[in-house]
Amino acid sequence: MDAIDALHTRTSVPKLTDPAPSGECLDNICRAALRAADHGVLRPWRFLLIAGEARLRLGELFVKAALHENSQLDPAAQERLRDKPLRAPLIIVSISRHQQTAKVPVIEQDLSAAAASQNMLLAAHAQDIGAFWRTGAMAYDPIVKRGLGLADNEHIIGFLYLGRKAGPSRRLADPDIAEFFRNWP
Ligand SMILES: Cc1cc2nc3c(=O)[nH]c(=O)nc-3n(C[C@H](O)[C@H](O)[C@H](O)COP(=O)(O)O)c2cc1C
Repeated sequence: MDAIDALHTRTSVPKLTDPAPSGECLDNICRAALRAADHGVLRPWRFLLIAGEARLRLGELFVKAALHENSQLDPAAQERLRDKPLRAPLIIVSISRHQQTAKVPVIEQDLSAAAASQNMLLAAHAQDIGAFWRTGAMAYDPIVKRGLGLADNEHIIGFLYLGRKAGPSRRLADPDIAEFFRNWP
């Protein structure tokens, strides 16, 4: 798939299954992240790869965080949270690392990490690998962040779920260019 096709056709794939991307495919995804626009070349990011049994530990971390918020959380809800990381064989946690520089505001560092995340979705799609960017309350939870080893200056930009497509890709209607782009003045 050429680059323009990939840019014009990427969609999220909610249903994902084994195998996880590996080898050259995974390298391509990782390298794409590191080509993101990056003000000041701060490299304000790092990424965790969570696969196999490690996903069970992430599920336990989600339950621990939820129980801290609500100790009465019912067992069915706990089970749903525990299973969330099993929705794909590989999760890449995109993390922004804020560096205090006079020149580059931290929001721009988050934007770079988000651009790196989008690059990974595109690199996955270009290789026919399914991907889905998720956040939700768990991405901002201090217990989850600590459990994943994040420092105080680090923030989760997204959980990128990756794997073989196990269902149809949903295709939203292509928006009208004229609705969002105008000549100025
Ligand atoms: C920062 C960010 C966080 C997101 N978090 C979620 C999420 O937690 N759950 C969800 O269903 N979609 C989430 N989405 C949206 C999906 O990833 C997806 O982009 C959206 O459903 C539109 O589908 P498409 O990518 O196929 O156009 C998030 C997107 C972004 C950019």
